Amino acid sequence: MNKSATPKKTRGKGAGQKILFAVSEVAPFVATGGMGQVVGTLPLALKRVSEKTEVRVISPLYRKVRRQFGSGMEFLGDVWVHLSWRSQYCGVFKLERDGVIYYFIDNERYFDRDEVYGSYDDGERFAFFSKAVPAVLELIDYVPDIIHAHDWQTALVPVYISTTYAERYPDIRTVFTIHNIEYQGKFPMAILGDVFDLQGYDMGLVEYNGCINLMKGAIVCCDRLTTVSPSYAQEITSGGGYGLDSIIADNIGKLSGIINGIDTEFYDPASDPALAQKYDVDSVEKKAANKKALQKLFGLPVNTHKPVLCVVSRLVSHKGIDLLLPIMEELVSDDVQFLLLGTGDDRFQLFFTELGMKHPDKIGINIAFNPEVSNKIYAGSDIMLMPSLSEPCGLSQMIACRYGTVPIVRAVGGIKDTIRDCRLGEGNGFVFRNYESGELLDTIRKALHMFTHHPDQWEELMKEGMRTDFSWDLSAKAYIDMYSSLR
Ligand code: GLC
Repeated sequence: MNKSATPKKTRGKGAGQKILFAVSEVAPFVATGGMGQVVGTLPLALKRVSEKTEVRVISPLYRKVRRQFGSGMEFLGDVWVHLSWRSQYCGVFKLERDGVIYYFIDNERYFDRDEVYGSYDDGERFAFFSKAVPAVLELIDYVPDIIHAHDWQTALVPVYISTTYAERYPDIRTVFTIHNIEYQGKFPMAILGDVFDLQGYDMGLVEYNGCINLMKGAIVCCDRLTTVSPSYAQEITSGGGYGLDSIIADNIGKLSGIINGIDTEFYDPASDPALAQKYDVDSVEKKAANKKALQKLFGLPVNTHKPVLCVVSRLVSHKGIDLLLPIMEELVSDDVQFLLLGTGDDRFQLFFTELGMKHPDKIGINIAFNPEVSNKIYAGSDIMLMPSLSEPCGLSQMIACRYGTVPIVRAVGGIKDTIRDCRLGEGNGFVFRNYESGELLDTIRKALHMFTHHPDQWEELMKEGMRTDFSWDLSAKAYIDMYSSLR
């Protein structure tokens, strides 16, 4: 367990490091949310800022990935992975894309399913994957300096590297990134205790408050702990840690907050193929053509003077959807149009579907996860609402800015680090503080006032958002510095 007792490999200062990302989803292969998008772009960004750093990615081979990308993959071989008394087949496939090497772990029992998450045996599936990561390193002939794991699904990787695999791989260091601390990988001891194949003290690493808590294990075992914004790094140690605050406080020396970037090539209104009309910061007037196309798409009256407000979000409580419910009727009594795209909790889906049927001339609802439609919405709307209760980083507020759509956001987590209130000087959005529907409505009305009565100010605000640098460059450098500190 104690790695400091083993001699540390020393390397020349100029030598590049070998990194392996272990992750349960990675775009473009599969992404159910922000983590998949982030992990899909970060390897390329790291390569751009440090040519010497080599980043490869390892992820499960889900049914969807096999069907869509399987024909381009090379089979490397297989090993057996032990989970206590079970021994499981583990095939490894390789695929290179845009200069990045991806490995996919194959086990049909665990991953040949339509859904990525949400199965009764998720704990066992991702324990298998996490154990497979160190188990296949020889087979893939890539023993990294650092394994960088993400969220609870791969939280067992740092645990195995510092226990079961400590003797075999004493030089491998681990980084663990928290994308959302709300999901910790908690399971009853009785059900999963034996699956992880950890004994005695080692089993205690993943125990917390009488149950298994995989994220806690990673926090304790990793060499560096990061999360996706500086503000969220503060919040999770001061009341926003969903029960893990004190564990993080004990490990605070390892923690840093590095803000996510967005893929500024993919999210670029000057080249986005999903748009009816391309535009940039010097031709914002062309955005109007996208608004017309969007109004048509959602069957709303075509009128570029009407403000179009949108929500593009998972429909779950922590995104602040609860705040919208009590003010929707009042909001649509104003002269506005409202669009919503997203899936999530039944109660929200039902609420918005019914609301859309009640106000077909003002409201357009699309209960779906659809990247192409989402880009059309970002391009055609005037205002995006993001009243999150908690937000580790958040990507939508940055994407909205990129498309000249003004975000109205709550000051929390990564939103605080990316959006500045235009009423306080040079800002790129409207920001409100308290988690209250009244404050949200009030802020929306202030924004609508500017939109209607001060079009010049509004245009400046749009442009300020479009000019804000949300690229990965600075953050990728911060990751490289953090990796280098592990030499
Ligand atoms: C999670 C967080 C979101 C963050 C994303 C990428 O989905 O909820 O705030 O932007 O991960 O790190």
